[in-house]
Amino acid sequence: MNAKKVSESMVEMRELVLPNDANILGNLLGGRLLHWIDVAGAMAASRHAQSIVATVSIDSVEFKHPVKVGEMVLLKARLTWVGRTSMEVLVDVCSENYLTGKTMFTNRAYLTFVAVDENNKPVPVPGLILETEEEIRENQEAIKRREQRLLRRNASAGANCG
Ligand SMILES: CC(C)(COP(=O)(O)OP(=O)(O)OC[C@H]1O[C@@H](n2cnc3c(N)ncnc32)[C@H](O)[C@@H]1OP(=O)(O)O)[C@@H](O)C(=O)NCCC(=O)NCCS
Repeated sequence: MNAKKVSESMVEMRELVLPNDANILGNLLGGRLLHWIDVAGAMAASRHAQSIVATVSIDSVEFKHPVKVGEMVLLKARLTWVGRTSMEVLVDVCSENYLTGKTMFTNRAYLTFVAVDENNKPVPVPGLILETEEEIRENQEAIKRREQRLLRRNASAGANCG
């Protein structure tokens, strides 16, 4: 499998916030935004892996500014790290008021996806070619985030519904 550049799988996705996406104050629901973040991230991971992917982790997400009904949401997703079968994807979210042209950075989220086959079994993914200083820095930070995630995964391994 040939390694791929970060730029080869980047995804930009735009959504218009409609009344059904919002709470009674007219602010975008957090759950709806998480769904869009998941979809944008999954598309970037799928493009890199050329495979079906499953979300295994979404790191904590902060909602910095409310996004209002009628505004647009721009999501930019790119890979930061790959393992054997898993990939970390960074998703940046900005809101845009197209009437005024004002844009606002609202969120950054890190998600982990695993490439799977039709039987939901993990499959290897191509390596990641880092070209810019920012990509190298993100990759180094991704390694630390992964260590923390695996610690959390181990800590919750014994949890059950009983
Ligand atoms: C995806 C799935 C098939 C992987 O199975 P698994 O038994 O966890 O497989 P493994 O333990 O071999 O892990 C596969 C890779 O994922 C990574 N991984 C698994 N869980 C992880 C987590 N919580 N955080 C970070 N990485 C994780 C492993 O480190 C491994 O990475 P590597 O191959 O790059 O070294 C399984 O976890 C699954 O089906 N999960 C549910 C996915 C889903 O339904 N998502 C929608 C939301 S509910």
